Amino acid sequence: MIRFLMNDQTVSIEQCAPHTTVLEYLRTKAEQRGTKEGCASGDCGACTVVLAEVNEGRLQYRNINSCITLLGSLHGKQLITVEHLKQQGALHPVQQAMVDLHGSQCGFCTPGFIMSMFFLYKNCSQPTRADVEQALAGNLCRCTGYRPIIDAALSLAGQGSNDAFSEKEAQTVSCLQAILTQQPSGSLVDGSRQFLIPTSSDALLQSLTDHPHPEAKLLAGGTDFSLAITQQLQQPEVIIYTGRVAELMQCEETERSIIIGAAVSYSDAESLLHKHFLPFASLLERLGSLQVRNQGTLGGNVANASPIGDTPPVLLALDAVLHLRSPAGREAIPISEFFTGYRQTKLPPAGFIESIEIPLQSERTLCVYKISKRLDDDISAVCAAFSIALKDGVVTDARLGFGGMAATPARALNAEKALIGQPFTELGIVAAQQALSQDFSPIDDVRATGTYRLQVAQNLLLRAVLEHDSEQENSNQIMEVVQYA
Ligand SMILES: Cc1cc2nc3c(=O)[nH]c(=O)nc-3n(C[C@H](O)[C@H](O)[C@H](O)COP(=O)(O)OP(=O)(O)OC[C@H]3O[C@@H](n4cnc5c(N)ncnc54)[C@H](O)[C@@H]3O)c2cc1C
Ligand code: FES
Ligand code: FES
Repeated sequence: MIRFLMNDQTVSIEQCAPHTTVLEYLRTKAEQRGTKEGCASGDCGACTVVLAEVNEGRLQYRNINSCITLLGSLHGKQLITVEHLKQQGALHPVQQAMVDLHGSQCGFCTPGFIMSMFFLYKNCSQPTRADVEQALAGNLCRCTGYRPIIDAALSLAGQGSNDAFSEKEAQTVSCLQAILTQQPSGSLVDGSRQFLIPTSSDALLQSLTDHPHPEAKLLAGGTDFSLAITQQLQQPEVIIYTGRVAELMQCEETERSIIIGAAVSYSDAESLLHKHFLPFASLLERLGSLQVRNQGTLGGNVANASPIGDTPPVLLALDAVLHLRSPAGREAIPISEFFTGYRQTKLPPAGFIESIEIPLQSERTLCVYKISKRLDDDISAVCAAFSIALKDGVVTDARLGFGGMAATPARALNAEKALIGQPFTELGIVAAQQALSQDFSPIDDVRATGTYRLQVAQNLLLRAVLEHDSEQENSNQIMEVVQYA
């Protein structure tokens, strides 16, 4: 059985198909049809709802796409839908602002925008235009135009975040704590089909041993996984949710590395990455939308093994280590050995990623570039990450990670070799630029041609040099990512 708060009512569900999405549940079972379905693939934001979870005794609010969130993952959380915002007969301040500033026409996208604005209202009392753009980048409107919507969100600045939800916060916290204390784990069943919620790495291993792949599938944030359900209509027999596995939900900082649990969301990993790898954290701002980052995880991105995933090139450049667990035991393998072919990895049978360890790098320069057609919420044509050690202007070591250039995310080993011993200058990188064509023969697809990809990869090396030069001129600060669409 799973238990969660549906607005302020406790809901218990035992019998339900494990692949049921929150959106499907809302519209067909709970008969709460304010939440809309546009794309069913996480792209349009029409289905946005807000989840509240207890974090250090307070409620943490997150906007998410209900179309790609599975119902079982709601265990122990509060699901807030647009129907619940109006309280005691009064519109919520975000709803009132949309009315006052004419932010809606046909209204199809409006519930989604309202929920993203509600998320912003609860998390940021003085939103800037940049905050508003970040919060709303995952919501599409096709008829009103964004100006009035952004005006509505900006008009809330300085109003504080006190509302009926704040008044009931203590009550909600104790209700959610009671659910998780009485029942830390949960499950859904539907005949032989199951949704399982292990709470420890041992229990996760046991679940995978009891239900080996392909019968059982691991679910983290679901931002890749759920598309197989909504787009390809797959109905997995057993879904094992990692979002309550304590060991996979931890971040750790040691003297030599940071360790990010495989089920930690991008939003939760952001502050640690920002502290140690600013260019990496800046890249995350362009990974999907806020709704996607509030759910998606590093572990899911790596395990998915997509050649165009954004984080593997950076993890390759940073020489990250994956901590894997399986019935055969625990092992740590460098990410450079993990990807074995198109969407193939070295993950052992019934195995899972526990965490990703990133060594801290002093005295190296990190540059990260994402090339995509659109700035926000778009998949990379090419993603590149360079970690370069220099002594007196000469390259002493280099790791160049690329996505979008081959069947797997990969390092450019020939180009790395050609860089070492050369000055990090326009002339010094020419051999490495040429060597990139030995490393990669990229393909043509809808995002870019192979010729374009190779040219871009070569140009990015030049860009790194030019930025390094101007950084040197301006200051001695560590180079930061430059984003480029
Ligand atoms: C609208 C939208 C935009 C997106 N934009 C981007 C983008 O810009 N860049 C990008 O890189 N990606 C993007 N994605 C893809 C996706 O968000 C990322 O790949 C994300 O990191 C996946 O993480 P997840 O936690 O949601 O994984 P899930 O979907 O839960 O799982 C993905 C795969 O990993 C497996 N898995 C999960 N956890 C583990 C584990 N611990 N051990 C072993 N296997 C595991 C699952 O079984 C599944 O096969 C986008 C997706 C959407 C829907
Ligand atoms: S319906 Fe489009 S993001 Fe969910
Ligand atoms: S108001 Fe019509 S799509 Fe936004």
